[in-house]
Amino acid sequence: MTPYAIALHGGAGVKPGRDYSRAEAQLRRLAGDGAEALKRGVSALDAVETAVRALEAEGLCVAGRGSAPNTAGYVELDASIMDGAAMRAGAVAAVRDVVHPITAARRVMDASGHVLLAGAGAMDFIETQGLARVEDPASYYRIPDGVEPADFDDPKAAAHGTVGAVALDRQGRLAAATSTGGTFGKHAGRVGDTPLIGPGTWADSNVAISATGVGEAFILAGGAGDMAARMRYGGADVNAAADAMLADVARRGGDGGVIAVTRSGEVVFAWNSPGMKRAAAGAAIPVFAAVV
Ligand code: GLY
Repeated sequence: MTPYAIALHGGAGVKPGRDYSRAEAQLRRLAGDGAEALKRGVSALDAVETAVRALEAEGLCVAGRGSAPNTAGYVELDASIMDGAAMRAGAVAAVRDVVHPITAARRVMDASGHVLLAGAGAMDFIETQGLARVEDPASYYRIPDGVEPADFDDPKAAAHGTVGAVALDRQGRLAAATSTGGTFGKHAGRVGDTPLIGPGTWADSNVAISATGVGEAFILAGGAGDMAARMRYGGADVNAAADAMLADVARRGGDGGVIAVTRSGEVVFAWNSPGMKRAAAGAAIPVFAAVV
C-alpha cells in the first residue's frame, strides 16, 4: 500500500478539568478529511494548508480567530509553510487582521521570491495578493477553548497555543505548516518560533515537523530543524530526535511539543508539556484524536 498520512496539532499544554471536546472533535474531523484528500491524490502541501486554514477560521485554538491581543491591545499573527519535496518555504511574521495567515505564508513562498516577510511590508504584500482581511477585529477574535480571561495575566500559564499540520502524500512528498497568534501577553512585535523555518516548521525529503510551545525556547534549541538534522546527519530515529530536541527546549526554560510524519508514513507525537491537542489519520492509521 502506498503510504500517506496527516497529523495535526492544536497546541501543546492543556489544563486539567477544562473542556477541550470541541477542539478535539475538530482535529479528528480534519484528520479524517485530510487523509481522504491525500487518498484522492491531493498534495501534502495543499493538505496541510487546508487543515491549518480550517483551524485558523474556527478559533478553537490559539491561531487565526482564536488569537489573543498583545500588550498593545491588538492581535499579531505568525505562520509558515514548507514544501519538503522542493525545499521551498514561506512565512509571515507580526501581521495583522488577515483571516488566513497560512495562506499569506504560502503566497510568500509561491509569489514573493522571499521566504519570510514581516510587519508593514508583509501587510503590503498581503494587500497585493487580495487575501481576505478581518473587517471588525473587536468582534472577530474570540478566546479559544480551554482558555480563561485570567490566563491573559499569566503568560506562563497559558503560553501554549499554535496550530500545525504535517503530511505525506502518495507521491512521497512531505510538507508542514504552522500558524499562531503567539503567546498571551506578548510584547507588540514579539515573534516566536512559528514563522521561522527551522525552529517552528520544517520539511525535507525525510520528515515533516510542526512545533508548538514556548517559542523563545524552541528558537534557542533549534526546534523542528534541529530535530530533522538529528535524523539527517545524526542518524537518530524520529522518536529519539524529538525527545532529544524537546529535552533541549526544557533546558532553555520552555516546554511544548512536535508532530512529525516520516517518508515511510510513520506519525510521531512528542511533548513535554501537560498534554497536546493532536490528531492523525492515514493509509495505515485509523482516525485518531486526543488531548492528554
Ligand atoms: N510557539 C508559538 C509561539 O511561541 O509564538
